[in-house]
Amino acid sequence: MTTYRIATLPGDGIGPEVLAEGVKVLKAVGEVADLSFEFIEFPYGAEHYLATGEVLPDKAIDEMGQCDAIYFSAVGDPRVEPGILEQGIILKLRFAFDQWVNLRPIKLYPGVPCPLKDKGPEEVNFYVVRENTEDFYIGIGGSFCGAHHTKELELKRRTYEGCFRLEVEWHPADGVAYQIGAITRRGSERVMRYAFELAQRKGMTKVTSVDKANVLSDMYNFWREVFNQVSADYPDIETEFAYVDAITMWLVKNPEWFQVVVAPNMFGDIITDLGAMIQGGLGLAPGGNINPDGVSMFEPIHGSAPKYRGQKVANPVATILAGQLMLEHLGEGEAAMLLDEAVSQVLAEGRVRTRDLGGRASTTEMGDAVVAQVHELAERA
Ligand code: IPM
Ligand code: MG
Repeated sequence: MTTYRIATLPGDGIGPEVLAEGVKVLKAVGEVADLSFEFIEFPYGAEHYLATGEVLPDKAIDEMGQCDAIYFSAVGDPRVEPGILEQGIILKLRFAFDQWVNLRPIKLYPGVPCPLKDKGPEEVNFYVVRENTEDFYIGIGGSFCGAHHTKELELKRRTYEGCFRLEVEWHPADGVAYQIGAITRRGSERVMRYAFELAQRKGMTKVTSVDKANVLSDMYNFWREVFNQVSADYPDIETEFAYVDAITMWLVKNPEWFQVVVAPNMFGDIITDLGAMIQGGLGLAPGGNINPDGVSMFEPIHGSAPKYRGQKVANPVATILAGQLMLEHLGEGEAAMLLDEAVSQVLAEGRVRTRDLGGRASTTEMGDAVVAQVHELAERA
């Protein structure tokens, strides 16, 4: 029997409640699929930070590095200044393990209400492959006030050369802030290849590339150039470019057009929140931070929702589906399919529904329903 060592990070707010259900479901799948899991829990998040001042020590990263995967829930708490935990934990892990793909399936399950008129599971079923370590997430930026910072300002001017408005209106004494995005050929190419290979694996026939080459042309013309080169290696797959503003429109109007969408980090962040809504809400949207050759991390894309903490009203399905992505990533395709089917049936039957889906079931009841369905499917097989 294969045993997987999984690092868990229950985090803050509703995090521990939803992760408990995810773990419970994985154990159930393990029982019927002849797998076992050793879960190693890590305490990081707001409580730990407030008590110790420690966000995420290097030794924890080393320990997680010994695991087969990381099962992450959510961090963030009103008592902690925004950014500290998000950057110090989520982003730090993505970068530390070079999890360069952020895979976000946008799949509307039968029985789940969709806010889009006349759209159902047939129309909403695609993947967003978000680049996960570059772009505006590289953490280079600054802000300053006062004329003595002319050096930085020159850099800014060069960046915006020819832009009259910015040149005349910028008075450094009033304060200036900037954030720099950068993409590399290697970083873009690998995520694009991943997208094409995902399309092939899933029997999909089109990859859409997202950018804003009409305005941020230095970066995203380069992105397009790399995309064109990569796509030449996949002649059977149709390709198209979409500007990020336009794709937000098309995702609402014609989600059925999309199969695999590959996007730079920040645009990918934005369009996957939109994606979560059209698949029925944040309670249903999982994501995988993947390094195909390293330690990957699976998480619901929602945050810690501190105001619901302890109430057991959160939908654990996003976290459960993150577990499903983890199984698939670990090469346990059959177990992953079983879990997907179990979630799908529970949602389709609609007997057990959490509040976000218009029902009154608790977080635990939803997890229990998936566990029961896993057992039922396994008995029937
Ligand atoms: C996400 C989140 C994160 C991101 C934040 C919390 C760092 O919004 O996973 O989409 O921006 O990537
Ligand atoms: Mg986001």
